[in-house]
Amino acid sequence: MTLRKIATIGHPVLRERARELTVAELADERTQRFIDDLIETMRDASGAGLAATQVFEPIRVCVIEVGDNPRYPYKPKIPLTVLVNPVIEPLSDEKFSNYEGCLSVPNLRGRVTRHAEIRVRALDRHGAPIDRVVRGISAGTYQHEVDHLDGKIFVDRVEDKTSLATWDHFERYQKEAFVAYVKEIVAKYGE
Ligand code: NI
Repeated sequence: MTLRKIATIGHPVLRERARELTVAELADERTQRFIDDLIETMRDASGAGLAATQVFEPIRVCVIEVGDNPRYPYKPKIPLTVLVNPVIEPLSDEKFSNYEGCLSVPNLRGRVTRHAEIRVRALDRHGAPIDRVVRGISAGTYQHEVDHLDGKIFVDRVEDKTSLATWDHFERYQKEAFVAYVKEIVAKYGE
């Protein structure tokens, strides 16, 4: 496995709409190796997710995993998930406010409005269909990653610019209130 270089904001690859993969391309050994690299790179950087565009491959693949994550210790856990050609559909008008960060936007966090209940359809790395409902904080993580495949970065969705903060200042000034809010969201949606 190889750790891939992560593109940072301003690089045009992050603004591309990634293309769909065919089932044959997905089965190809090179794609499978790429998925291993994507997982390894996400874990190495302590990301909660990573999209192919972030490592300079404009194909519709992203990975998500939340364990004991030092960047996001308050996030509910998500087992390793590989999404190929994902499509997200909001299931209700309910929204919540998520404080996000991104490996492609070093040292910046900001508040983003996300759908609280979504349906996610995709293929897994073996081409088997995934069709699941995701809610709450975890739904925010899914939307953040799929946004990358459409050339969108969380900062595009930050409406209240006064919420922007470095990671140190988030820890110092915003974290306590946000963690309390996360507990409410988790209590409401169970994830
Ligand atoms: Ni990101």
